[in-house]
Amino acid sequence: MLMNKPRLAWALTGSGHYIEECLNFLLTLDDVDLYLSQAAEEVIKMYGFTLNDIRQKMPVYRDKAASSPPVGHFYKGYYHTFVMAPATSNTIAKCVLGISDSLVTNLYSQAGKCRVPSIVYPCDIAPEMETTAPGGKKVMVYPRKIDLEGTEKITAFEYTSVVKSVDELIKTVADRLVFVAKESVT
Ligand SMILES: Cc1cc2nc3c(=O)[nH]c(=O)nc-3n(C[C@H](O)[C@H](O)[C@H](O)COP(=O)(O)O)c2cc1C
Repeated sequence: MLMNKPRLAWALTGSGHYIEECLNFLLTLDDVDLYLSQAAEEVIKMYGFTLNDIRQKMPVYRDKAASSPPVGHFYKGYYHTFVMAPATSNTIAKCVLGISDSLVTNLYSQAGKCRVPSIVYPCDIAPEMETTAPGGKKVMVYPRKIDLEGTEKITAFEYTSVVKSVDELIKTVADRLVFVAKESVT
């Protein structure tokens, strides 16, 4: 028997691209546990967020252990959905190779092994993109072939929905939350 209502697990990686938009959206949600890669922990500070402020709103798990103990939550039915947004080139490259050697890559892998749906927003979605540097300056970024191939490959993974814009991310998460809420009353 489940002791708690299932929650949403959300992982942030060290992608400056859309990190503010993702954080601003996820901070509006209830029943979320936030997971940070080591790089995310550094990058969110560069974009003006503090861990203490985020902790006022939701539990935050940092990447401090080799075996990623919190992934055990997936085996207890603690999470209905895993969101990995934004996902760096690095994290996507590892995930598509089946590597799970960090907290966030472990979460993606264990969500899949527990058949928990994942919503993934890779930072590399087009060969040419405008992005926001820390401090607000707009800069161009040109993802390489290998980065775009990673995005393509992860769309074919089981239990994975890949989104390609912030609007699509927000809609996909919102739809999923409605679906989960309906399921819990039937
Ligand atoms: C300010 C800043 C912004 C960054 N933005 C991106 C980005 O948009 N996409 C990306 O793939 N890497 C970006 N990086 C590099 C990643 O943080 C780095 O590759 C890191 O090793 C990723 O680790 P993770 O995948 O475990 O989070 C950025 C780094 C910094 C310092």
